[in-house]
Amino acid sequence: MNDAPANTDPRRAQNERLTRVGPGTPMGNYMRRFWHPIAASVELKKDADLPVIPVKLLGERLALFRSPDGSLGLVAERCPHRGAALSYGIVEDDGIRCPYHAWKFSKSGQCMEQPSAAPGSALKDRIKIAAYRAREMGGFIWAYMGPLPAPELPRYEYVAREDYEQDIGISRMPCNWLQVAENTMDPVHIEYLHMGYTNYVRQRKGLPAIPLRKHKKLAYELFDYGIVKKRLWEGDAEDSPEWTVGHPQIFPGTALVSYHEGWVQFQIRVPVDDANTVVYWYNCRPRKPGAPKQAEVPMWENPWANAEGRYMPEQLNAQDMMVMISQGDITDHTAENLIESDAGVILYRRTLLREIERVERGEDPTGVIRDPARNTPWVELPVEKEISFAFQGVQASAAYDFPDVEASKSAEHAPAK
Ligand code: FES
Ligand SMILES: [Fe+2]
Repeated sequence: MNDAPANTDPRRAQNERLTRVGPGTPMGNYMRRFWHPIAASVELKKDADLPVIPVKLLGERLALFRSPDGSLGLVAERCPHRGAALSYGIVEDDGIRCPYHAWKFSKSGQCMEQPSAAPGSALKDRIKIAAYRAREMGGFIWAYMGPLPAPELPRYEYVAREDYEQDIGISRMPCNWLQVAENTMDPVHIEYLHMGYTNYVRQRKGLPAIPLRKHKKLAYELFDYGIVKKRLWEGDAEDSPEWTVGHPQIFPGTALVSYHEGWVQFQIRVPVDDANTVVYWYNCRPRKPGAPKQAEVPMWENPWANAEGRYMPEQLNAQDMMVMISQGDITDHTAENLIESDAGVILYRRTLLREIERVERGEDPTGVIRDPARNTPWVELPVEKEISFAFQGVQASAAYDFPDVEASKSAEHAPAK
């Protein structure tokens, strides 16, 4: 029996469940069961002028800091005295001190000192701010904001492997996380956006056309960490790795795509708040034989707009970002008209709603790792090792975007979704 008010539109309620990520929301509670990258390690160096930065995750403003002893802290940004930002605070080994009147908070959020309080005041004992787990791996600082005990921080294969090195591209997108993440579950757009539309733009620029291809078959399979997407291109044999292996959408919203020669790319979508998403284009590649282990994982900007603030319809990743952002800040999914070719998007949304229900029942959602043995030495993920030559045309458009392949990290994020 449905006890919802009679005037509640169930589709609108579902829309809210899928898109809202703030504290106490169904999706927010689900998202809080996972570790999310909250910054790149290079953004928070120990020798920085201020070893503390403001960050925002799942609608919560936080101060992320690195103590002189190297340990990390992650606490609510707003000081409970009169609201100044701890993200400009004084970082100490065991906590952080507000810049305004020097109240000090431990890494678990407990107020430790109120220097201007009357002698003997016990007020500080009753003041505690939100504090969360932060850990470092693979060039990222990861945050966990859910109920304790925290699950394992997943050691995905290409993050954890010693013989791999990485770089991090970042895009800051002014739109809801779902319209970014579900693009992975929409393989058909490659035929149109990345091929047909690319040629439209290229033709108008006087550039040669890239080859067009069509999907022959598509399949989606649930697995331990999300959904595997498989495709067979017309003209490819049934043993094409894109069809036999495919690649995953790792829950809640990270795509893993292959490139070539062992290179892969995680596209990690981090919900900043309801209307903002950070995408990390996390490239992982085998280290060259004899090359030293990288001192740090570099970070670079992958913009969705040019200097004039316009979308860049001729560039591969920017095409995706154009269609994600142009849907609106939080798109109204109830106004869509989904058709058969949206089967992957429909499956993804339905699965997310089921996962939200699991969390509401007190269960761990799919993909959360509790057993350290499952996380050691790393978590294997299905990903085709070589993408079809069907993408050569798409890659050509990436090469066109970034003609100096060696000089530009951007050329390395060529895989489409
Ligand atoms: S506002 Fe933070 S100590 Fe006063
Ligand atoms: Fe795409």
